Amino acid sequence: MMDAMKHTRRDCLIKGTVLALAGTGVIDGCTHLSPRYAALKTANPRRAAVIWFSQTGHTASIGRLVAHVLRAEGLDVIEGDYRQFDASSLPSFDIIIAGSPVFYYRVPVNFRQWLSRIPPLDGIPAASFVTFGGAGHNQHNTAFELLECLAERGALPLCIDMFSHMSAFAPTWSTGREARILRYRDLPNDSTFDAARAFARRALSIVRGREDVRVESRIAFWQILKHMDLPWWTKLFCSKHAINRDNCIQCGKCGQICPVGAVSYRDYRVNRSKCIFCMGCVNNCPTGAMEMTYAGSEVYGYREFLRRNNITLRIPPELARK
Ligand SMILES: Cc1cc2nc3c(=O)[nH]c(=O)nc-3n(C[C@H](O)[C@H](O)[C@H](O)COP(=O)(O)O)c2cc1C
Repeated sequence: MMDAMKHTRRDCLIKGTVLALAGTGVIDGCTHLSPRYAALKTANPRRAAVIWFSQTGHTASIGRLVAHVLRAEGLDVIEGDYRQFDASSLPSFDIIIAGSPVFYYRVPVNFRQWLSRIPPLDGIPAASFVTFGGAGHNQHNTAFELLECLAERGALPLCIDMFSHMSAFAPTWSTGREARILRYRDLPNDSTFDAARAFARRALSIVRGREDVRVESRIAFWQILKHMDLPWWTKLFCSKHAINRDNCIQCGKCGQICPVGAVSYRDYRVNRSKCIFCMGCVNNCPTGAMEMTYAGSEVYGYREFLRRNNITLRIPPELARK
């Protein structure tokens, strides 16, 4: 009873603060997006683009599953990470689905910037999804933010969805809080994959039926943080970010994965002011040569975390057969 009261009081306090801040305009209020079908390119999409940004593979895996479903529905599908995607081809598609991880409560800055520069998508229907860590923070509004990025380029907004995964935020386990991450060691699971399949079919059926839909953002405490350049603040806790010459095998993975060109692996340099602290380099280095110290602890990457905990991430069966 006491516990329940404590919860109620805490919830009231949080919600009251959020509402007060919303009232003063400090955080974004609720907004919504709806498609204007008068501008629709076609209600019978034949070509689909599924694009994503992914640093440890979660978003890529959902993206591939979405692409597989659309293909099974008879569409011609091109899929891939935006870093390998020809942006100028986007207007030639009849439907676009974009996916992103939630980083620091929002769509990562590199992906937002790329989307702001893509050609106009007038009349092309679009849907968005995010993958996020465990219980997650701000995933609904991040998926909404991604849809907004597409709508700002003229796309017709259809729907959003979010998929929980085991978080890839390396400082959490490196500073001794493995349990917080391992609670979600079974994700993604069958329900995740079913939800992703349903999301792909839903996006398609909305366009085919010219359904009147309304996608809404939510008033949330986390929206305040969205405006605070969190990667910059988080970086303040990082006292070392460098390549260990003895361990580096010059495979080039870190340079390839860094979305902002901050890693020059050939001359073992990391440009820390360019770095957006996405952890892609640490999480993917196959030999642990990317050294990082966060809040006094040595950070080790996602691949190593999976290995130490004997975890094999599941992939959807239809993709495993490929
Ligand atoms: C730098 C970084 C920041 C993150 N920030 C958040 C966050 O704010 N909210 C959240 O729910 N998950 C957060 N996560 C967890 C990721 O969203 C999650 O691991 C995601 O599935 C990774 O996708 P990917 O494998 O496609 O890169 C973060 C992970 C990293 C590496």
